[in-house]
Amino acid sequence: MTKKWRNAREVFDGWALDHHAEGMEKSHRRSVEQAFRLIPPSDGDYLEIGIGNGYAIHHMAVNQYRRGRCFGLDISPNMVARAAERTRSLANVRIEAADFRHWMPPPETAFTCIFSMETFYYFEDIAAGIEKAVSLLCPSGILMILVNHYHENEASHSWPEDLSTPMTLWKAEQYLEAFEESGLRDLRQMRLQDGEQAAGTLCTAGTKPPEAVS
Ligand SMILES: C[S@@+](CC[C@H](N)C(=O)[O-])C[C@H]1O[C@@H](n2cnc3c(N)ncnc32)[C@H](O)[C@@H]1O
Repeated sequence: MTKKWRNAREVFDGWALDHHAEGMEKSHRRSVEQAFRLIPPSDGDYLEIGIGNGYAIHHMAVNQYRRGRCFGLDISPNMVARAAERTRSLANVRIEAADFRHWMPPPETAFTCIFSMETFYYFEDIAAGIEKAVSLLCPSGILMILVNHYHENEASHSWPEDLSTPMTLWKAEQYLEAFEESGLRDLRQMRLQDGEQAAGTLCTAGTKPPEAVS
């Protein structure tokens, strides 16, 4: 029998309705909290790509970006409904169901930080996703991408088959190279220990250069 592949929207629309969304939050939270300690407070605009049930954008909106605005996207309308419910009381959060690859922010909006946990490997062209994110950063803005599905984490290699969902497997150095080629500087890469992935969560971060003063 031929295998039936599902896209990310189909998978996560289902996961939003059963208990997988809470399981994801539990297994991702430790890495996300370690990464968030590296993000400075700001009164600017924050974007999270692939918000899932909204636990991380909620954290940002009441902590570092409590004086700023937080934008969140997810391709799954059911996940967006979960995240909207969770952040309903927060006036500085704006959440949308959208595919990041085709999404554009409101005019005149540039982000001081763009964050994403466990989403970029669902893109067939990860480099294009990174380039697009960098184009949406303001000068001195930070891009931070976390993934558990990467070459050095052998335990993750079976995930596309296990989930019947296409994923793009990159090496750690490919993330670094793509950050550099997109013009980011002050590159940092680390493995965050979450107690679940023996290899750790791969976190890659970089900063857009400040505008040249003429
Ligand atoms: C593994 S989940 C991680 C969710 C959340 N970041 C967390 O830490 O639990 C990946 C999320 O990315 C979303 N996603 C996948 N492709 C996307 C795309 N092209 N644009 C926006 N969201 C996407 C999925 O719907 C899903 O909610």
